[in-house]
Amino acid sequence: MTEQAARPGIPAMFTQPPPIRDPLVTETLDLQNATLAKCLPFLKGIHSSQKDFNEHGVPALQRDEHVSYLYDSLEDYPEGFVAMDASRPWILYWGLAGLAMLGEDTTRFRERVVATLRPMQNPTGGFGGGHGQTSHVAGSYAAVLALAMVGGEEAFGLVDRHAMWQWLGRLKQPDGGFRVCEGGEEDVRGAYCAMTIISLLDLPLALAPGSQARDAGLETLTSGLPEYLSRCQTYEGGISGSPGSEAHGAYAFCALACLSILAPPEEIFHRHMDMPLLVSWLSARQSAPEGGYSGRTNKLVDGCYSHWVGGCWPLIESSLAGKPTSTEPPANSLSSREGLTRYILACCQGNNGGLRDKPGKHVDSYHTCYVLAGLSATQNHHYRTDTSVSSKNFSSSFSWKSSPNRSADNVFSRGDRLAPFHPLYMVPHKAAEEMRLWSEAHPLTV
Ligand code: FPP
Ligand code: ZN
Repeated sequence: MTEQAARPGIPAMFTQPPPIRDPLVTETLDLQNATLAKCLPFLKGIHSSQKDFNEHGVPALQRDEHVSYLYDSLEDYPEGFVAMDASRPWILYWGLAGLAMLGEDTTRFRERVVATLRPMQNPTGGFGGGHGQTSHVAGSYAAVLALAMVGGEEAFGLVDRHAMWQWLGRLKQPDGGFRVCEGGEEDVRGAYCAMTIISLLDLPLALAPGSQARDAGLETLTSGLPEYLSRCQTYEGGISGSPGSEAHGAYAFCALACLSILAPPEEIFHRHMDMPLLVSWLSARQSAPEGGYSGRTNKLVDGCYSHWVGGCWPLIESSLAGKPTSTEPPANSLSSREGLTRYILACCQGNNGGLRDKPGKHVDSYHTCYVLAGLSATQNHHYRTDTSVSSKNFSSSFSWKSSPNRSADNVFSRGDRLAPFHPLYMVPHKAAEEMRLWSEAHPLTV
C-alpha cells in the first residue's frame, strides 16, 4: 500500500521516520516504532479526527472545547474515579491553571475553592489530598497555587501559615532536602513544593523547634538545599528525584525551578549544575519527527513533558543570558519550538476537548494543564527584570516578566495564543505576586 502524502506546507522532518534506524530490535524499539506509527498520521495532518488547519498544516487549538472540558473537570466525578480522591487539590489546580492559560477568569471560583480546600487542611500544618488524609507537600503545593489563582482575602487567609511553617520544618532533612510527608520519601518534588509554599507565603526561614534538621545543626529551611539538588544531577546530565536515581524531566523542572526560587538562575545554576551536560540531556529529550519530549532516555514522547522538560528552557535561557535578561527571545533557541508546537496541536488534542499524552491515550486534566503549559512556554519569552514586587527573601522570584515570542518558527495562528504563566510558580504572574504581597503584609511572628 502506498503511504498517504502529508498535507502541504509541513517540512519532511516532521513527517518522515528518522533517517538512522537502530538495527537492534528490543521491546523499547518496538514501543517507539508503534508510537511513531500512531503519531505520523496526526503529524502529517491526515487523521480523520483533525480539523481547522492553518497554512503550516497544523490544526487550530480547540479552545472552546478545552475550556468546556476543564469547566467540567471541576464538577462532580462518577464513582469510578474514586482513586482521584487523594488528588483533590490537584484537580482544582489543573482545572484552574488550564482555564487561566486559556484566558478564563478563575477568581469566580473563589468561594468554591475555599470551601473545598478548608476541610483538607490539617491543624498540624499542610493540606492532605482529600478529607481526613495526611498532609503532603504535593497536595499542599496544589492547594496553595489554587488559592493564589482565585485570590483575595478569604483565599489567602485560609492557610494556617504558622502551622505550615512548623510542618515544613519537620519535613526538612539533615542533608538539606525535604520529605514529601512526615515519614515519607525525600525527593526533589519535596524541595520544589516546599520552596514554592515558603516563598509565596513568605514563611520565616528559621527552622521551627522540633525540626530534625535543626537538631542536626542546620539553621534554616534553605540550608544545604542547593547542594542537595546538585547531588541529584546524574552522569547523563539530567536530574533525578534523589541522589543516585535515574534522571527524569519532571525532576529536572522541580530542581531547576527550586534553584531559581533560591537565587537568580544565572548565579545559582552555574554553581550547582554541570550546565553543558544538563543542556545536552535536555536537548536529547526532544524526539524527531514527533517534536514532543520524552521524560527520560529511551522512553516515549508524552505531552506532559511539554511542561516538565519544556519549562526548563526559559530557566536555562535566563541563566545563560545573565541579568537583566533581554526582553527579546534569544536568536538561537535551544529547542525546536516548531516541533513542540506541532506535536501539541497535531497529536495531543482530544476529539471533544482536553489534551493527552499521545494519540491513542485518553485526555485528562493533568495532561490538559501541562500540555497547555508547554504550549504557553513556547509562545512566550520569559525574562527577569531589575524590579521585583518584593524586596525581601527570594525577591528575584518575583522579578520575572514575559513578552510574546514572535520568532520566525511560530506555526500557530494568532487565535491559538495562550496567556503567559510564571515560569517558577506555574500560575499567572499576578496571582503569584498578589499572594506574596498579601503574605508580606501579614507577617508571622515566631
Ligand atoms: C515516570 O513515570 C515519572 C516520574 C519518575 C516522575 C513523576 C513526577 C512528576 C510528574 C512531577 C511531580 C511534580 C510535582 C510538582 C509534585 P512513567 O514511568 O509512567 O513515565 P515515563 O515512561 O515517561 O518515564
Ligand atoms: Zn504524561
